[in-house]
Amino acid sequence: MRVLVTGGAGYIGSHTLVELLGQGHEALVVDSFSNSSPQALDRVRELTNGWFESEEADIRDTDRLTAAARRFRPEAVIHFAGLKSVGESARRAVDYYDVNVAGTVSLLRAMDAADCRRIIFSSSATVYGEPQYLPFDESHRIAPTNVYGQTKAMAEQLLTDWARADEGRAALLLRYFNPVGAHASGRMGEDPRGVPENLMPFLAQVAAGRRDALRIWGDDYPTPDGTGVRDYIHVTDLARAHVAALARAQAVTGAEAYNIGTGHGVSVREMLGAFQRVVGRDLPHEIHPRRPGDVAEMRADCSRANRDLGWRAEYDVDDMVQSLWAWQSANPYGYGAPPQEG
Ligand code: NAD
Ligand code: WQD
Repeated sequence: MRVLVTGGAGYIGSHTLVELLGQGHEALVVDSFSNSSPQALDRVRELTNGWFESEEADIRDTDRLTAAARRFRPEAVIHFAGLKSVGESARRAVDYYDVNVAGTVSLLRAMDAADCRRIIFSSSATVYGEPQYLPFDESHRIAPTNVYGQTKAMAEQLLTDWARADEGRAALLLRYFNPVGAHASGRMGEDPRGVPENLMPFLAQVAAGRRDALRIWGDDYPTPDGTGVRDYIHVTDLARAHVAALARAQAVTGAEAYNIGTGHGVSVREMLGAFQRVVGRDLPHEIHPRRPGDVAEMRADCSRANRDLGWRAEYDVDDMVQSLWAWQSANPYGYGAPPQEG
């Protein structure tokens, strides 16, 4: 299929591009590079023989997007482009609504102009908010507790209404749990700007000597070891879920939501232990109070994705940590140069 990939230079987008091209799909990447580097696309070229082109553009620029879509004539869109930091979303609320919601409106207008009727959307488990029960299934109530989550829930609603408004349209809403790890080659991975908010990139930077110590946000949760439990999913498994969703989008109409995780919970201490085993030494860590807004546990029921997408996560925690460490140790400053000291 010809697939337009927004945000294709980003962490999840670049890994998905490798899997798409490997399966014979063709792609047009549209990315503003506001949170990524064109080098990620060079690495994709290095790892695949597939054909893709890229265009530097903001998804809110409807005219540019429409021209690109009319020229490329995509049969489907995978929509990764967006802002994704929970902490930042409170401070930059209008920007988050603008990019994540208005940006999606702009994309749908361009799709309509090019008569493209299928979209796979990067949603998030954060749309569920405080768990009423675990594991989360897709019928769990949607009640996000932060601005970022609100923008994802609004985009889901928008896509659902778009899909219902005309026959033959399909919107697949993939609710990712905690994507981690890197490509097995060590050539591609997550490259966060500034101090990472998330556990795994922070831990990798502690191991690489870029940060002094991991701060464990709370060890008094009602979990087996007191630290927060999450459903971490290897980014390559997540990438493959998009390829499976593309096939599904050819066969169905309307809107469908899917949890994408492993179904297994892993605590912060367990993750730290796995990382220490891979690097072969203890990593400095300190216990701090709980981070505001965090929940004790998040875990997915992925049976719908297993059944309807014919997809299942294959990688385990050791694969996640090993691939992340291969990427981090070979590319201590990600795709960029070391920061200038002084
Ligand atoms: P990322 O920041 O690495 O990738 C997003 C890409 O979109 C970047 O390349 C960025 O330059 C681009 N972009 C941002 N604003 C844009 C705009 N206005 N126009 C064009 N391009 C723009 O993030 P990621 O981790 O790869 O996440 C991809 C998607 O998955 C996001 O929508 C995110 O909300 C969602 N998601 C991520 C996670 C996670 O933990 N990483 C979890 C759940 C959902
Ligand atoms: C995981 C666990 C922390 C950092 C966020 C978003 C979610 C999704 C994925 C986009 C928690 C603990 C963390 C640290 C720690 N993103 N932790 N020290 O909060 O589950 O999810 O990213 O959609 O929407 O909310 O991920 O990696 O930040 O935290 O102890 O320095 O690690 O308390 O238990 P989270 P995370």
